Amino acid sequence: MKSISSKKLKGNILIPGDKSISHRLVILSSIAIGNSKIKGLLKSDDVMRTVEAMKSFGASINLSNSSNCFINGIGLGGLAEPKTALDFGNSGTSARLIMGLSSSHPITTLFTGDTSLSMRPMQRVLKPLINFGSSFSLREDEFLPAILKGSVSPIPFIFDLNEPSAQIKSAVLLGALNTPGTTIVRDKFNTRDHTERLLELYGANISIKRKKSLKEISIKGIKDLNAIDVNVPGDPSSALFPIVAALICADSDIIVKNVLINPTRDGAFEVLKEMGAKINYLNHRIMAAEDVYDIRVKSSNLSGIDVPKKISPTMIDDYPILAVAASMAKGKTCFRGIGELRFKESDRFNGILNLLKKNGVKVESNKDTITIHGKKELKRGGIEISTNLDHRMAMSALVMGLISIKEVKIDNAKTIKTSFPNFYNLMIKIGAKLFKK
Ligand code: S3P
Repeated sequence: MKSISSKKLKGNILIPGDKSISHRLVILSSIAIGNSKIKGLLKSDDVMRTVEAMKSFGASINLSNSSNCFINGIGLGGLAEPKTALDFGNSGTSARLIMGLSSSHPITTLFTGDTSLSMRPMQRVLKPLINFGSSFSLREDEFLPAILKGSVSPIPFIFDLNEPSAQIKSAVLLGALNTPGTTIVRDKFNTRDHTERLLELYGANISIKRKKSLKEISIKGIKDLNAIDVNVPGDPSSALFPIVAALICADSDIIVKNVLINPTRDGAFEVLKEMGAKINYLNHRIMAAEDVYDIRVKSSNLSGIDVPKKISPTMIDDYPILAVAASMAKGKTCFRGIGELRFKESDRFNGILNLLKKNGVKVESNKDTITIHGKKELKRGGIEISTNLDHRMAMSALVMGLISIKEVKIDNAKTIKTSFPNFYNLMIKIGAKLFKK
């Protein structure tokens, strides 16, 4: 796929369901009692990995209706031992959340994934789960394939999150559901909180206390979850691709409908507004215990700013597309404390540097900081970007092409299906010049 300089992006688009929430809805509905109805589930490759895994544990999941997904849960503690290895493809969230869930069940599960997922760290998730009484082994003590032997009599514990990862936090919270007694997780990083919000919606025995910036989440396990009927809010990280495109392509004015705005996820929106982006939130409503808006975006004159490490958890998936926005902003934008980007679907720290440098943007880096020297002018283009099986690097490169004189090509567009299957159609709909070949 490739793209080239575009102007006048116009129109309304409906953004697909949030990936993080979709994974969690599939998992929690699968262990609830009764039939859940999920409208607008993201049917992307990643979420399908969670669906397949939950089916292997015995849940009955019906996706045949185009907009609804029906799940008949097996009840808490009812996970059957999968007969074969579970293949999680590219999906770190599926693998890590399901490690948490299965760690408090008396079953053994084998986890595998694609080449990208098999290079991502897994100890950080599996090690805390030992406290439930589970045990594991990993290739080279760090990577998939993994074998996880869940606990026969899970034990509750107190866990201090020492990395800013919602996946690690959520793994422990999911393990706590089938554990008698109270498991406590302390999060000082303000990581995304969809698991907590949804657990309340499903009727789990969860309580949350805040002590200054520390959040203490307690779960009293062995409490049945109720089936729910829910609409999935649109994914803000997906919405940012058309949003940034409209900000940086001249004479644009678009509305992106149905976007989740959650204070643990909206860092990129706040940063863009501070850079001078014309972004307006319209038509507030609540879906899946979350705030949702339609967002109007107009072409803007952006200015570079300093983005501190402290807010990185609230925008951890969004640095690649923000880097594209920063390349069109007047002056320096500095992303601090983003070493964690090396451990995403690809090494995004170097991926961002490569994308910008190749397209003639001046950029500097040190250990965990990237500084982008932006200018409001078209870039040269005429480049091909290796996406390294990374959907967000692929879409960021294509948005970069929309401000490039010659084409920007990506080596692999299939990977976009990981999170945003109708990306191409929606971008074309607003007038972006994207080409399949
Ligand atoms: C996710 C958490 C984040 C994020 C990932 C989805 C989640 O990962 O990058 O895309 O759904 O919990 P970390 O928790 O490892 O930061």
